[in-house]
Amino acid sequence: MRGEFLSSSPEQTREYARRFAAGLGPGDAVCMTGPLGAGKTEFMRGITEVFGCEGQLSSPTFSLLNIYEGCMRGQQLELHHFDLYRIESEGELEATGFGEYLSGPFVSVVEWGEKFPSYHRSYTRRVVLDIAGEGMRKITIT
Ligand SMILES: Nc1ncnc2c1ncn2[C@@H]1O[C@H](COP(=O)(O)OP(=O)(O)OP(=O)(O)O)[C@@H](O)[C@H]1O
Ligand SMILES: [Mg+2]
Repeated sequence: MRGEFLSSSPEQTREYARRFAAGLGPGDAVCMTGPLGAGKTEFMRGITEVFGCEGQLSSPTFSLLNIYEGCMRGQQLELHHFDLYRIESEGELEATGFGEYLSGPFVSVVEWGEKFPSYHRSYTRRVVLDIAGEGMRKITIT
């Protein structure tokens, strides 16, 4: 799923996220970008619903990585949810093993990934969420 989509509610944002996530598999790494309140966590919730791990969702704000045990087409799958908001340098990020995680057989979703250009080539998909008015969000998927 690629293109520009307009969402008029959190439910609709989750629905777009479910359609997007249905096309993901092990090895995919998603860079998710958007300002505070744009709906990144709502979008993530839709992704966890597809992989059957929605009950496990918590905000990664205070941790670099949350790992969810999920399932896709009968296969076990790990969903990795990163938040790089508090990471200050590429050196600090590299020291966490981020590069190896990204290239592993997981589905990775990375918030604030755009902060670190040397990893841009590692992403297979990019999701940009923008606030487009009261209750409206523009979702761009490339
Ligand atoms: N169309 C919409 N899609 C998603 N969220 C919406 C929409 N309209 C209103 N909202 C509201 O916007 C907020 C989005 O919050 P969310 O936590 O998902 O944002 P976020 O991008 O994760 O922010 P933060 O960077 O602070 O974590 C929620 O309060 C939600 O109810
Ligand atoms: Mg959030």
